[in-house]
Amino acid sequence: MNSYIAAADAPARNTGIIKLYDQGADFDGMRAACQLTAACLDEVAALAHPGATTQMIDDFIYAYGRDRGAVPATLNYRGYRKSCCTSINHVVCHGIPSDKPLREGDILNIDVTFVLDGWHGDSSRMYTVGPVKRAAERLIEVTYHAMMRGIDAVSPGNRTGAIGAAIQTFAEKERCSVVRDFCGHGVGRLFHDAPNILHYGRPGEGIELKPGMIFTVEPMINLGRPGVKILSDGWTAVTRDRSLSAQFEHTVGVTDTGCEIFTRSPAGYTLPPYG
Ligand code: MF3
Ligand code: CO
Ligand code: CO
Repeated sequence: MNSYIAAADAPARNTGIIKLYDQGADFDGMRAACQLTAACLDEVAALAHPGATTQMIDDFIYAYGRDRGAVPATLNYRGYRKSCCTSINHVVCHGIPSDKPLREGDILNIDVTFVLDGWHGDSSRMYTVGPVKRAAERLIEVTYHAMMRGIDAVSPGNRTGAIGAAIQTFAEKERCSVVRDFCGHGVGRLFHDAPNILHYGRPGEGIELKPGMIFTVEPMINLGRPGVKILSDGWTAVTRDRSLSAQFEHTVGVTDTGCEIFTRSPAGYTLPPYG
């Protein structure tokens, strides 16, 4: 059995009990953190060009947060040393920024979590480096629409399984596969909290969604098979078959009638190329 607790009464750690946040002050705090992350992801689009390095993008993100009173949640998180994750081509997630230049035709995910006044705003998007192959463009479109189908299923009374089922049904209809090894997560005062949000499954599975829940929806979708492996750096997850992988991530809050996407782009960006 799963249980729920008013976030204000909960210990500030992951106890497995679902925190229900206040839709007034707490949602306001999340809006501010998430909009900072989203505005930064908008700005980063100008840096994703051939010759730029993912370390340059990391430096930009660190400075962007510092200048606005925010800290990246990934910095020194479980030994991770960067301000974002940059996952290129067959990298599924948790790619580590480096001095290797981007090349025309690359696709990459940039994943940022700013902590502002204790609230975590977690979001990621796909970026294209110059023109990319049609298959890569299609994978990005499928992944974006899969995430949005999942978010459309976020409504009180539905179960978390409805989110995964919507994502999986759409992705597989498009002949793509859903990565099983990583999931969305509760977020708020904590970076990673209960519940897990699986990106596959059936509508009747998982726990019931209730107003005040806050979590991410962040499907990783592959052109080939779903299997992943972790490289020797202990972080970088890649597709076993080296097929292309894509991911989008929003942070959402459950309302009385549906949900609010906290990390929506202030510039109105949805799919690359942006701007
Ligand atoms: N931002 C990622 C997520 O969406 C987590 C990255 S953890 C890191 O949950 F340590 F790899 F940065
Ligand atoms: Co996340
Ligand atoms: Co993230």
